[in-house]
Amino acid sequence: MPERQRWGSKLGVILAVAGSAVGLGNFLRFPVQAAQHGGGAFMIPYFISLVLLGIPLMWIEWAIGRYGGLFGHGTAPSVFQTLWQRNRFIKYFGVIGIFGPLVIFIYYTYIESWLLGYAVFAATGRYAAATTPSEMQTFLRGYQGLEQNHYFQGIGWAYGFFLITFAANLWIVSRGIAKGIEWLTRWALPLLFACAVILAARVLMLGAPDPARPDWHALNGLGFLWNPDFSVLSDATVWLAAAGQVFFTLSVGIGVILTYASYLKREQDVVLSGLTSVATNELAEVILGGSIVIPAAVAFFGPTQIGEIARSGAFNLGFVTMPLMFQRVAFGPWFTVLWFGLLFLAGLTSSISLLQPAIAFMEDEFHLSRRRAIAIMGTVAFLATHAAIFGLGRGVLDEMDFWGGTFALVLFGTIEVILFTWVFGMDRAWEELHRGAELDIPPVFRVIMKYVTPAFLLVILGAWLWQQGLPVILLAGAPPDRLPAILATRLGLTVLFGLLAYLVHKAWRSRKPYEALP
Ligand code: ALA
Repeated sequence: MPERQRWGSKLGVILAVAGSAVGLGNFLRFPVQAAQHGGGAFMIPYFISLVLLGIPLMWIEWAIGRYGGLFGHGTAPSVFQTLWQRNRFIKYFGVIGIFGPLVIFIYYTYIESWLLGYAVFAATGRYAAATTPSEMQTFLRGYQGLEQNHYFQGIGWAYGFFLITFAANLWIVSRGIAKGIEWLTRWALPLLFACAVILAARVLMLGAPDPARPDWHALNGLGFLWNPDFSVLSDATVWLAAAGQVFFTLSVGIGVILTYASYLKREQDVVLSGLTSVATNELAEVILGGSIVIPAAVAFFGPTQIGEIARSGAFNLGFVTMPLMFQRVAFGPWFTVLWFGLLFLAGLTSSISLLQPAIAFMEDEFHLSRRRAIAIMGTVAFLATHAAIFGLGRGVLDEMDFWGGTFALVLFGTIEVILFTWVFGMDRAWEELHRGAELDIPPVFRVIMKYVTPAFLLVILGAWLWQQGLPVILLAGAPPDRLPAILATRLGLTVLFGLLAYLVHKAWRSRKPYEALP
């Protein structure tokens, strides 16, 4: 069996995990979620979810990934099997941990490619004539191929940038863990933090750009986010949105951290490293992410408009409001290049992590070379992305996001926490977490991990299924013209899941249960 790859250094793996976590979720999704759910009202469930779900799941994924890696396995089917060796079926639940990230990768890379496109357009002044929100929306719709207009006659530009982005992802992953993923995050993460600090400083110095409207002040954007509002705590929707955001932003419940952690050495710390990656992500999200889009939108469009803009479309704040805002400041185009460049880098360090589980699965379970594993999984992802590209206006991307980016996350998170703390056992779990640890986890987390996190997750899963999941699953309210595309997407996703489950079955047919650590 070929020797498993390893991270080059301790800092390298922390940066790689933080790079996976810091992504479009921090700078685009977070402001939209916060704005849609009342700013200060959103932050209370957000922080509670961070402590009760985010941090425990981060630690669990680091620990179980490192544990599975000791047996030479780096993806959820086998890692689950190592944790519950006597159960023959648990590996099939692990399929979610390859399926979920692959599905997210499929649409995420396409959105990431828009950022590259917009960075180039900002530098070349291609949308300089679009000076109103509706013109910028027309530009975006033309770019996405949703309509032909005076900016775009077809999807050629978007497709070109997609090809470049997709190739960049494959190239980085093909260079391997240390020379590819770790190499990229080592320079990209500090660079994107530097860009974010410059942008946040610029936005916060905007003050009130319109003297006639002194309350349209950038600092009021911070007030919108940070003045707590306890009145909506009984609203389940806000809790669901906050918990969903914590999952997405930290990259937990997806299966990617688990795979990254499988390249750790046996005694390498997971407690402090896991916590550092959470802290880095939160710095990027609530401090930097929270100081760019929301204050900018408040300064130029007013505090009452912001919720409306966020609700009018998931991409409007990032792709419409921000470029318009920068058009009105000195050196605006360069700040816009910085904004989209920052987002592109953040997206890239996340998307490579989304592809890695599928590659690791083929390498670990079928002993394929990295090149062959990438050729197979890259082809699957490449073909599937065409559904997202050409079915954008018909709800295909939303459907993929629902199954891969929402449903799979909460379900997978619930399974892994129960498996680790109940089946593997809390005493062994605690010992495993602390092997080589540079920090002791406060004992209260024993209770949180065993009881509170699973109970919280089950309640979230149940409430979410009831409120949002079942109506979507049963296609309640879906526009009739979108039904064929939605059903075709579901069929495609089912085939993909079935194929992965079959591969898991095939890989395990001739294998004996694990007995002892090698
Ligand atoms: N954690 C990644 C993000 O926030 C997926 O975009």
